Amino acid sequence: MNKQELLEKLAPHNQEHLLAFWDELSPEEQQLLAREVECIDFDLVSELIARRAEKHQADDGRPGERAEPPQELVRQSQFLDEAFVESAAAAGNELLKAGKVAAILVAGGQGSRLGFDAPKGMFPIGPVSERPLFQILCEQVLARSRQAGCAIPYLIMTSAATHEPTVEFFQQKKFFGLPEDEVFFFQQASLPAVDDSSHRILHAEKGRINLSPDGHGGILRAMKNSGLLAKMNERGIEHFYYHQVDNPTAIVLDPVFLGLHAQQNSDMSTKVVAKVAPEEKMGVVATLDGKTQIIEYSDLSPEEAHRKDADGNHVFWAGNTAIHAFRTDFLMRLTEGNCGLPFHTAHKPVGYLSVEGELVEADPKSPNAHKFEQFIFDALPEATVALVVEADRAREFNPVKNAEGADSPETCRAALKRIAAEWVTSAGCTVAEDTALEISPLFAASAEECQRRLTPGTAFQTPRILQ
Ligand code: UTP
Repeated sequence: MNKQELLEKLAPHNQEHLLAFWDELSPEEQQLLAREVECIDFDLVSELIARRAEKHQADDGRPGERAEPPQELVRQSQFLDEAFVESAAAAGNELLKAGKVAAILVAGGQGSRLGFDAPKGMFPIGPVSERPLFQILCEQVLARSRQAGCAIPYLIMTSAATHEPTVEFFQQKKFFGLPEDEVFFFQQASLPAVDDSSHRILHAEKGRINLSPDGHGGILRAMKNSGLLAKMNERGIEHFYYHQVDNPTAIVLDPVFLGLHAQQNSDMSTKVVAKVAPEEKMGVVATLDGKTQIIEYSDLSPEEAHRKDADGNHVFWAGNTAIHAFRTDFLMRLTEGNCGLPFHTAHKPVGYLSVEGELVEADPKSPNAHKFEQFIFDALPEATVALVVEADRAREFNPVKNAEGADSPETCRAALKRIAAEWVTSAGCTVAEDTALEISPLFAASAEECQRRLTPGTAFQTPRILQ
């Protein structure tokens, strides 16, 4: 599009200022900006701005007063029943061996809390090897596909912010041993940040719009538009295991979870963990109006977060780990229309370029812009059966979210070391105090596998990587 055509696209939405610096740009910069403008769905952005204004008046909410704990639930205590676990694992392994499962990794986020200058998946997390998050996750997929005796497709969602460096990294690292043609990158869309008072879309630079990925819920549109959902369906994939890039202790393609999900004919299953405290900042899975849904912590008042049921148990105990399983036909149903998950608005401090061309830095204390995102968990209420499975938090939920403190590289590395020491000890070996051990998923992906591979009595005295 040329300048005139772009202006015609922008004018009905009062966003012509996006071309304010057009004449100062080089032809290449003009082309880049034109491409960004062409990619934005301005009807959608205008609708989101208008809805935002409505929401301020009609915020009745208060789901915390009415919601109940999740109903279709498997608790940790049920995992003590060996026959129950074996039957679920057998069902999951059968699906994996039959080539009916693919894994999805969402890796399009900007990781702003961690403050790492590259896609989060490249963050060095291995306590001894410093292997990156991507490697630990890919090695889990590879180990699982070796066990299953067939390739498992790995679908990796990136965004404009993460795509190029992620693909380059995978190429450089030879796909961490995965067959290259079984790794499928696909990009989610971006949405602009909008000034909260003028409703103008913000510039990042003279020739760049301030864009962010459209949330992990953008995966529905991205899977549909990339053709990957149809392709996986044609290939006979019946279920997807979904996980996030920031949790290397997720049991990727967990056969027990997949088995329970399939046995109960669940459209969308979710792993939850018990919250450490009612006020922990974590979305909770609950039942509201007969539907399983996730309620964000910010939507619960402190009193609601502490609410107890008739038996004296906390109603909102079930923290969302963002580990899901989906039936393919459920995703196909969700993507038939316009992939209509609701949009959430975040009020955030966003740096921008003023109309005078001055760079205005974000003030962390004063949010100035709205950003719009879709969340994949909003698909839960659409499921006819939505199974909720409680996981062992110490084993399976150790995310890297923040630069320090809770959910940081430090806590995640400590968890990786602790899990490795537990597995090795369960195999009758010893680990000297303060000695870091790291276990590659290609060596063992569970305590049982570790027991099969180690000779009892082995003493680990110095930092080691078992691989
Ligand atoms: P988070 O909600 O933790 O966001 O993402 P983030 O972008 O990684 O980090 P902050 O909030 O900026 O600090 C959870 C998972 O969802 C993915 C992330 O890559 C991560 O695996 N995600 C998030 C996407 O793939 N796309 C998005 O638009 C947002």
